[in-house]
Amino acid sequence: MNRLINKQSNALSAEITDKDVFNARRAFIKSTAMLSAGLLLPSLGQAQTELNDKLVITAREHVTNYTNYYEFSTNKQDATKLAKPLKTKPWRVEISGEIDKPGFYHLDDLLKANTIEERIYRFRCVEAWSMVVPWLGFPLAQMLARFQPNSRAKFVEFTTLYDPEVMVGQHSSILNWPYVEGLRMDEAMHPLTILATGMYGEDLPNQNGAPLRLIVPWKYGFKSIKAIVKIHFRETMPDTAWHKSAPREYGFYANVNPEVSHPRWSQSRERVLGSSIFTPKRATELFNGYGQQVASLYTGMDLTQSI
Ligand code: MTE
Repeated sequence: MNRLINKQSNALSAEITDKDVFNARRAFIKSTAMLSAGLLLPSLGQAQTELNDKLVITAREHVTNYTNYYEFSTNKQDATKLAKPLKTKPWRVEISGEIDKPGFYHLDDLLKANTIEERIYRFRCVEAWSMVVPWLGFPLAQMLARFQPNSRAKFVEFTTLYDPEVMVGQHSSILNWPYVEGLRMDEAMHPLTILATGMYGEDLPNQNGAPLRLIVPWKYGFKSIKAIVKIHFRETMPDTAWHKSAPREYGFYANVNPEVSHPRWSQSRERVLGSSIFTPKRATELFNGYGQQVASLYTGMDLTQSI
């Protein structure tokens, strides 16, 4: 299989050294080069490399033991254990909607056609904590392009597995099941948007979304849907699980924006996952710091209204 896996040490955040930062930068430059050399995708460029210089990787133990996965629990420590029984091999993904050949695909076959590379992104959750994770994945654009969406395909909708016997949280009505998320086509095709299959040099742990999850680094974490079983190209904007459950609190775009408060809390500062209670919170950046790459997607839109 065409998988290039870069093993990365699981350093504790307190032990992060210049070498880690250097490695992070090197891995990113490599992945950027691979990307530009592959499809005719816009390069991420200098701005991304500079942003990457500032990123300090969060220790793996924090990222894997503090998760949001409502299919298992609303408690952030519980999915680590509760998600263990989820069987992620074999895994099928349905590709459907505005394309020539809809069908079911084995994940292994989908992965064969894509080179898996390490991409280091800051990831920020809506309840005000952030982390920096070395994901393993490939640009979503690379895969979508192969299915040749037609001109009616304006949005992409993603759906998580529905299996209440294993996903015990699906017995609760806390969210509308199955979990659904969506992107506008240009967001989906943006080179920062990836499908992740791993992190920290290994396959994704179940609690972090194995075997396939989305990563959209300039949006709040809830857009980054886990355990994807369906990718559907559609003409109209999908209604998402969070929007259905709390329409006043969660919009479709969900771009990280320190100026727009959540109805129940400010979104201007974030706790860096793993930092001590004495560490000052970090000021949240518009588009999570990726503005140079993505702001143009929203030209003409009122960012305070298009939540
Ligand atoms: N995907 C599914 N299927 N179910 C979920 O509950 N939670 C979302 C997102 N993807 C969620 C999901 C939220 S709210 C966040 S913040 C991120 O996953 C958290 O990712 P992590 O647990 O890997 O940090």
